[in-house]
Amino acid sequence: MATLSPDVSLLTGRVAVVTGAARGIGRAIAEAFGAFGAHVAVCDKDKPRGELAMTFDVRDPVAAEVFAQAVRERWGRVDVLVNNAGGTFHAAFADTSVRGERTLIEENFTQVTGMIRLMLPMMGPGASIINVTSSEAHQAAPGFAVYAAMKAALESLTKSLALEFAPLGVRVNAIAPDGLPTEGEALVRARMGEGLPYEPMRLPPLGQLGRPEDAAGAAVFLAGDLARFVTGTTVHVDGGIHAAGGWRRTATPTAT
Ligand SMILES: NC(=O)c1ccc[n+]([C@@H]2O[C@H](COP(=O)([O-])OP(=O)(O)OC[C@H]3O[C@@H](n4cnc5c(N)ncnc54)[C@H](O)[C@@H]3O)[C@@H](O)[C@H]2O)c1
Repeated sequence: MATLSPDVSLLTGRVAVVTGAARGIGRAIAEAFGAFGAHVAVCDKDKPRGELAMTFDVRDPVAAEVFAQAVRERWGRVDVLVNNAGGTFHAAFADTSVRGERTLIEENFTQVTGMIRLMLPMMGPGASIINVTSSEAHQAAPGFAVYAAMKAALESLTKSLALEFAPLGVRVNAIAPDGLPTEGEALVRARMGEGLPYEPMRLPPLGQLGRPEDAAGAAVFLAGDLARFVTGTTVHVDGGIHAAGGWRRTATPTAT
């Protein structure tokens, strides 16, 4: 990218891999990448749609290897890896079994390190990894303690790998969403604070909820050359929830 101009090609011809792309944020990212000219490989435990699409649970290392092999055979390289798949269930920590905890760790952390191990050998200078975390990685999350801890671990991983992969010319960043209605978000939001003496923020400072496409906008930026000098950081796509900390916007702002 010599100069910044509206003609800059953002993702044309790039090869992108997006996990958890059957719905929600992952689907919005995959569709946006395609619209900006990338070849997109997608996977999900529910049937995803895309140029190269495979249905499997990302916690299954053998299936993930088959997926990586299919990407290698089709394009021989990976320019963008978006680790988006993830999720949680609501339970107080005292009610979370060892098995439940292991599921959350594998679903939100171990499968990500596994996917990076598989895709990194296909990545070279200019490539980028985007880990989808959560604003809950940055704050307490009663009822979602292990999930939030794993998202915080992903934030830490993002910074360390940004340094380890910098000599390879591979950037590593995170997107921390919140307040983007999706099927997964609806399930989580419906049970927030349930059975525990806490209430979540209901209204982001921007005064409305966002859309999965808002996260896709950040992903298109981070994936391409506009972000060539951006690594080891997090873009919060949350209408100001992270910035607000303990502050809550009232439903009807007072006129000044
Ligand atoms: N929507 C939000 O506001 C929000 C907030 C915080 C974090 N997130 C994170 O964003 C990411 C996407 O969330 P979403 O809101 O689109 O949720 P979603 O549940 O609507 O979509 C997640 C997709 O990932 C897939 N998936 C989940 N686990 C998988 C697995 N083990 N193997 C294969 N596919 C799997 C699901 O089948 C689904 O298609 C998640 O990592 C989530 O933790 C979203």
